[in-house]
Amino acid sequence: MSTSPAALDASRCADLCNHFRTLYGEACRIYRAPGRINLIGEHTDYNNGFVMPAAIRFYCWTAIATSKDRTVEVYSTNFKERRSFHLDHPQPQRNWCDYVQGVALMLEESGIRLPGARILISSEVPIGSGLSSSAALEVATGFALLDTQYKTWNRRQLALACQRAENEFVGTRCGIMDQVIACHGKADHALMLDCRSLEQRFLRFPENLRLVICNTMVKHENAAGEYNTRRAECEEGVRLLARKFPTLKSLRDLTRDEYENFEKLLPPVIQKRCRHVMSENRRVLAAAGALEKQDLRNLGALMAASHHSLRHDYEVSSPELDLMVELANQIQGCYGARMTGGGFGGCTVNVVAAETVSRFQNQVSKEYKARTGIVPEIYASTACEGAGVGQ
Ligand code: GLA
Repeated sequence: MSTSPAALDASRCADLCNHFRTLYGEACRIYRAPGRINLIGEHTDYNNGFVMPAAIRFYCWTAIATSKDRTVEVYSTNFKERRSFHLDHPQPQRNWCDYVQGVALMLEESGIRLPGARILISSEVPIGSGLSSSAALEVATGFALLDTQYKTWNRRQLALACQRAENEFVGTRCGIMDQVIACHGKADHALMLDCRSLEQRFLRFPENLRLVICNTMVKHENAAGEYNTRRAECEEGVRLLARKFPTLKSLRDLTRDEYENFEKLLPPVIQKRCRHVMSENRRVLAAAGALEKQDLRNLGALMAASHHSLRHDYEVSSPELDLMVELANQIQGCYGARMTGGGFGGCTVNVVAAETVSRFQNQVSKEYKARTGIVPEIYASTACEGAGVGQ
């Protein structure tokens, strides 16, 4: 008999409480925030466009107890390291603790005076695999720091503060998708998010569908640098097109015809980047319609087109991601497959009929190992709730 998710969560909390007591000699409160997949809408968030993520059953857990001083001590079970910082003198350390410090700093900058704290962090989200381990850490930390005494903050404010922490303190110019879904995830639903207005629409997954995540186990170097370059290329595209459309702020404000009439003004590489963003926004809107009608064939076709565009126009895929998608597409019962997250290695997301999951796992895993020599990790999840209090 398999253990229920609730029982697993309860035992996870009990283990964390014991670990916390051993480390710091006191009782704690527990919070958590999930990782995510993105079904479609890649590299559109920082272009003020549309995305469609879902929270997955991998959580970053934070256990916390406050103290009277202004020192924050943090232990990570993933890195097996203890770090600390002073709330009055935040200094980047260039390691995982910067996410914690960055969030504390942004909360303080928005007028909240935090107490010192002892924190224990333990994350199930595979780190650096495109499943948004950073946002899970930021949001789980933010929840813990806030809920100790300030309950008036809403999730949207927290998501924005966490994004600022990553942009301004850690130095990655990420969009808002990951932090929003970590805060707002809803069981059994994908979130259609307008990244400009932050308007949300939840779309229910058909009951017998699973989100299967294939980890290529490969992460290419300088993914963060390439990410920032792509973002700058899009900004350059908007700047050049604004010569023809003076009020233009984002690519989404152009119709397809307007863009196609003037794309030749752009240098070839910028043209490719903008073409991806323009077409990906259209695909997200179409995918929302497909999911609403439970038209999985159409959803799958849109996912395939998204992967193709990310591979050839945005150039953020990798041979391993392409192979993983190719193998998934050979399995009957797999409706759609594409890379998910920032790219340059990491994971694919696959929409698979529940009864097909174990065949999918066996076959893709065997073929991927035969072709690359790498043993992949393949996880199956349903869409889950966003951040909250642990038990
Ligand atoms: C990373 C970023 C997100 C988003 C994706 C690409 O996950 O954190 O903001 O830009 O890449 O869609």
